[in-house]
Amino acid sequence: MTLEPPATNLGGNVPGQRSREILDRATHVIHGAEGADEATVPIVLANKQGSILFDVDGNSFIDFVSGWGSTPLGANHPEIMNAAVDGLHAYSVENTDYVAAEPLVTFAEALTKVAPRGLTKVAYEVSGTEAVETTLKLMRAATGRPYVISFFGQYHGESYAAQALSAQQAEFHGGLRHLMPGYLHVPYPDPSRCVFRHDAPCDGTCVVTYIRDQLCHYLVSPNEIAGLVIEPIIGEGGVLTPPPPFWRDLEVTCREYGWLLALDEVETGLGRTGKLFASEHWDVIPDLMCLAKGLSGGALPIGAVLMTDAVADAASDVHTGGTWAGQPAACLAAIESLRLLRDGVLDNVLRLESIAERMLRPLVESSTIVNDVRIRGLYLAVEFADPRTGERAPEFSSMVHKVCVANGLIGIQDDVAHYRGLPALNMEEALFNRAMRILIDAIGDVEKLVESSPMSTTAH
Ligand SMILES: Cc1ncc(COP(=O)(O)O)c(C=O)c1O
Repeated sequence: MTLEPPATNLGGNVPGQRSREILDRATHVIHGAEGADEATVPIVLANKQGSILFDVDGNSFIDFVSGWGSTPLGANHPEIMNAAVDGLHAYSVENTDYVAAEPLVTFAEALTKVAPRGLTKVAYEVSGTEAVETTLKLMRAATGRPYVISFFGQYHGESYAAQALSAQQAEFHGGLRHLMPGYLHVPYPDPSRCVFRHDAPCDGTCVVTYIRDQLCHYLVSPNEIAGLVIEPIIGEGGVLTPPPPFWRDLEVTCREYGWLLALDEVETGLGRTGKLFASEHWDVIPDLMCLAKGLSGGALPIGAVLMTDAVADAASDVHTGGTWAGQPAACLAAIESLRLLRDGVLDNVLRLESIAERMLRPLVESSTIVNDVRIRGLYLAVEFADPRTGERAPEFSSMVHKVCVANGLIGIQDDVAHYRGLPALNMEEALFNRAMRILIDAIGDVEKLVESSPMSTTAH
């Protein structure tokens, strides 16, 4: 279900009066709250239906955030919500590792049936962060080894361990990294900006060579390493996709050293990239996989770690979950969401992906401020660079975002220089086209501003 916005009332003067009041009140009582003048999205949500956000001032916006990927079939999807509400009426809340409930079993059966082969067991959690935490515990317990390799640019959550595994930006660690030893970071395979600067075109294998020849030679021996946690397509870093040879070498190395390969598919999983799981693009076979966000179709919090029998057996003593992990109602919503996803939604993702390709890709040539466009399914990123310096330009993504909000589109603006979109996977074509138009026009507006600024040389 996707509701069309009222044609005359998309976007508006933001922040409106009521939003301004609430955002400013928040600064007194909410940790880290930004007032109306600093908020990246300067509205206050009143209602969200399908792919439309309504603010408390009566403005409406096309939703290109989808609760950061957590409402993959749009907000308030009737079948998913009914399943969740019926589940709450029937089961309320239960501590399901003490009192069992059938929906957990039914959903685990459904999920393992469609998961990459070999992933046969499920541990339920509440969030992506918890799924990552549990993955780390399982990896260490199963191998008896302390170190875990992660990649620069990745994001895994906000807890101590998930933050230590992350390396999104140095300042996000708040001086706490030294409290969490055991994580080794290496560059993410990125042929567009390969840090190894070799002569041959980059196929990502340089990263595996670095791990083998440098990290394992100088820093930590392979038999102290439990394995790797990788985002199969990095989201917060701007939709970066490793080339196939990287995966081939990585899997060979994992087998050779007895390392576990854990995929963090919290954001890429469940259809976002055009396949049910991003790892299917290369037929990568992991030992563990983290899922959360859209798992229940936006109804209730739920996370999951999928693992092989071998991992489950070797780490059978590890405690997982918690009071709210694996709620029956969340599992019922997740069963419904998975059924809907497999019922034609992926075709829609591919249809919209080709529209995005057709509309956004030409900007790389035609726009002086667009450096790159990255599209995988409905995982979308436009990267901006300053034509005067060639450097990435986060200020342009911020300007584009502001124009988009005023014109009725709310997407994701990041500090690296990307404008990203995580639209609902079942978005109607007309609405998607409209969002693309708002974004392209906003980029055009900002480009004109940049070109008319006194410092501009209009060089590309
Ligand atoms: C790849 C990845 N892993 C883990 C997380 C953490 O998930 P959560 O916010 O549900 O704790 C996120 C959240 O954005 C994510 O993108």
